[in-house]
Amino acid sequence: MHPQRRMQYLEAIGIDLWVSRRDSGARAAATVAASGSAAAPDPPPPGETAARWEALRSEVLRCTRCPLHLTRTQGVFGVGPSRADWLVIGEAPGAEEDRRGEPFVGAAGQLLDAMLRAIGLDRGTNVYIANVLKSRPPGNRDPRPEEVAACLPYLVRQIALLQPKIMLAVGRMVHRFGELNTPLVVTYHPAYLLRTPADKRKAWEDLKFARSVYQQRANAQ
Ligand code: URA
Repeated sequence: MHPQRRMQYLEAIGIDLWVSRRDSGARAAATVAASGSAAAPDPPPPGETAARWEALRSEVLRCTRCPLHLTRTQGVFGVGPSRADWLVIGEAPGAEEDRRGEPFVGAAGQLLDAMLRAIGLDRGTNVYIANVLKSRPPGNRDPRPEEVAACLPYLVRQIALLQPKIMLAVGRMVHRFGELNTPLVVTYHPAYLLRTPADKRKAWEDLKFARSVYQQRANAQ
C-alpha cells in the first residue's frame, strides 16, 4: 500500500504514526504458541466446502440454544470470503448488527473497517468477520459465560471451514484454549498501564470479568 494512503487511513482512525508493537499502547493480543505445533486439518473437498458453510449458516440462523433467540431480530452469522487468511472475532452483535444481520456494521464497525483498511484488509475480499455470540444480548450487555458456551461451537466450526492463517480477537470476551476449553481473558499489560494509568480502569473491568467467568465455572463444577 502506498505510504501516503496508509497515513490517511491511520489518520482516519486517530493514529498519527506507526509504533512498534513492543512499544504500542494497544491492548496486548495473547499469542498462544501451540506446543508441538499441531498440523492443520485437511480441508474438505472443494465442492463440499460451500455446502458446509451453507448448512452452518442456516443452523445458526435457526438456533435456539440459548434464550437470546427470543429477543434477537435475527442471527448474525459472519461476513467475508469463505477462504480468508484473516479472521476478526468480535464479541456479539449490537443493535445495528441485529437489524442488518451482519457483524460490525455500526459505528464500531466503521472504525474496524478503517483499521483493517490501514493494513490492506477488506471484508469484501480478504478478511472474514464473525462474533463469538451470533445473537444480540439485550441492551448490549456483556455476553454471559453460558451464552458463550452455547454459541462457541459455531465459531469453532467457522474456524475449521475458514482455516485462517491468523485470528484477531477484539474486545473483552472469553476465549477458550486447548482441549480443556480453558477460558482465556485478554487484558492490558501492567507495563503499559504504568505508562498509561488512565487505562487502569479498563484493566480493572477486565479483571472483574475474569473473576466472574472463574466463579461461574467454579460454581458449575
Ligand atoms: N461489537 C462486536 O463485538 N461485534 C459486532 O458485531 C459489533 C460490535
